[in-house]
Amino acid sequence: MGLNRENDRDRDDRNVRAGGAPARRDRAVRAAVVQGLLTEEQPVIALLDVDGIRASAAALRTAFAEVTAPDTAVLHAFAVKATPLVPVLRLLNDEGIGAEVASPGELALARAAGVPAEHTVLDSPAKTTAELREALALGIAVNADNPQELGRLDALVADAPGHRSPIGLRVNPQVGGGSIGALSTATATSKFGVALRDEGSRAWVVRACLARPWLTRLHTHTGSQGVPLELMARGVRAAYELAEEINAAVGRQQIDTLDLGGGLPVNFASDEETPTYATYARLLRDTVPGLFDGRYGLVTEFGRSLLAKHGTVLARVEYAKSAGGRPIAVTHAGAQLATRTVYDPASWPLRVAAYDAEGRPSTAQAVAQDVAGPACFAGDLLAENRTLPLLGQGDLVAALDTGAYYFSNHYAYNSLARPGIYGFAESPDGGDNVGDGVRFATVRTPQTVEEIVAESGGPHADALRADRESLPRDR
Ligand SMILES: Cc1ncc(COP(=O)(O)O)c(C=O)c1O
Repeated sequence: MGLNRENDRDRDDRNVRAGGAPARRDRAVRAAVVQGLLTEEQPVIALLDVDGIRASAAALRTAFAEVTAPDTAVLHAFAVKATPLVPVLRLLNDEGIGAEVASPGELALARAAGVPAEHTVLDSPAKTTAELREALALGIAVNADNPQELGRLDALVADAPGHRSPIGLRVNPQVGGGSIGALSTATATSKFGVALRDEGSRAWVVRACLARPWLTRLHTHTGSQGVPLELMARGVRAAYELAEEINAAVGRQQIDTLDLGGGLPVNFASDEETPTYATYARLLRDTVPGLFDGRYGLVTEFGRSLLAKHGTVLARVEYAKSAGGRPIAVTHAGAQLATRTVYDPASWPLRVAAYDAEGRPSTAQAVAQDVAGPACFAGDLLAENRTLPLLGQGDLVAALDTGAYYFSNHYAYNSLARPGIYGFAESPDGGDNVGDGVRFATVRTPQTVEEIVAESGGPHADALRADRESLPRDR
């Protein structure tokens, strides 16, 4: 089943009528219950708001179109790691958004979605020679991470003189980190790129470009969630100044494109979509005006900001209990879906919404309570001591803003199954009955226990038995 496209006017009209994303989400939750998506066999599902994703893609395109000179080549490449789902990549491709991939698996997903080679960028810090060779054969853009990788590319480029891959070098401007250390990629000692402020580094980069006429891009990504926009813009300015220096040294515009990475932070505290792409694009233009005068092409690699707001995990409360005077709702959504939140709740707080068993926003009295997941460790909590309408057995909880880096990046603790993921869109004419107006399309089928067994060595059940003469490496 698929969801028909409609034109922008229809979509915008309906969104205004319908009260925007939060109201759409409420109607989708209700419809998911009425239409039987949430069942005894499937007590947790994930939902994706198709109109919301399209709107974010349009906002991204418009924001950069407004600050770039006419005819500037701009490629927005979605960071596949954020939501590695083929139908999502295809939807974004339809919206003119390409793919930034960082592994053979992500590249395969982008190709399965039909993302063209010229809209694909390969960025991993640990590319093998075979991966680099394949990238050149396909004609996808490659950003080398370090001098050794550039050395490998020297040999591969010499062997493939007709290749069409734009090749860049990732630089670390070392402008500092944001509030989440693990996602700050422009610190003094970050593992990514060539550390520009280290002694001799900058001069080395200039020499490396002088020696390689095919090195035409610089890439920088200052970090993800938690990095202030001003810091991101400073990282971009450092890359631009380096590009200008290289081009002056070469005597022509060898560096013709800057890849600015992703990293626009997401507001996890409310439904407001802030900061916006427009704010960031204007800040970039004001901080680095020369980058927008038409001499440079641009690549962006946003992930979280395109998808986060458009995903919802919906889970049933299996049991409601209490301990030490605190109510606890034991649900089916925990560490397997919200891994970062469960292990590092201070950095990754998630909003949780309460619905009754019919999928209507709960009207129960608000009390402080824990929302627990199904995994067998005490810290498996979606929310701790959170004031929410009191949850009872059979009620539903929704983990909001989970469209990026959450349910699509499953964590297999306790062999908990990957849930089904369903895209939703509303019919312009609504529907006669409750729940009719929302149509769902399967994005990913729920994982079965048979699949879990098969992926967990099931076919090799005898492999470790003592009576086997040797350990054959059969697959
Ligand atoms: C090189 C690169 N580009 C883009 C992204 C996407 O960042 P975000 O999802 O914060 O936009 C990442 C995230 O890790 C990245 O490493």
